[in-house]
Amino acid sequence: MLITRIFPLISFVAIIGFSGCSTNVDGHNPSSSVYAELGGSKKIEEIVENFVVEIERDPVILAYFDGADINRFIDKLSEQICHRTGGPCEYSGDTMEQVHGGMNITEADFNRTVDLLINAMNKADVPHPLQNKVLRVLAPTRDEMLYL
Ligand code: HEM
Repeated sequence: MLITRIFPLISFVAIIGFSGCSTNVDGHNPSSSVYAELGGSKKIEEIVENFVVEIERDPVILAYFDGADINRFIDKLSEQICHRTGGPCEYSGDTMEQVHGGMNITEADFNRTVDLLINAMNKADVPHPLQNKVLRVLAPTRDEMLYL
């Protein structure tokens, strides 16, 4: 239904609006990190695997991945989520600007990708309040990849 597709988008937009208020994205307090709440790397791997399946089913977003190395994407995205949620990982991939800069990603397609990530978290049984925390730590990536 339309409302179930619009609601997560609205909440993400609201989260982006308030992302400047977020704390604890650098893992300074691992005992209360989003990473710990997720249950660690296994859950992040499940989310990322589900996310790839969602991307493969979406022709609009899949088109961006033409020629991409999916195994590297899985690896680096997992690292990035682990790092940004306060887990014990260093991110060893390219910067968000370097990777996405030349892609001309539209606002609509960024939001569409976020919807796919929400689907992936739903399928991994991540509770909605925790999904919002994950989205909040990823929200700054928006400005690192749009209008570059
Ligand atoms: C939601 C926020 C996003 C995050 C956190 C994110 C993160 C990443 C990461 C970590 C990589 C791998 C970097 C590397 O290989 O060193 C990557 C690659 C990629 N991302 Fe994103 N991404 C996001 C949104 C998007 C969006 C909206 C699109 C397109 C609609 C997109 C398209 C791609 C593509 C095509 C690649 C593969 C590039 C290649 O291997 O040539 N990403 N992303």
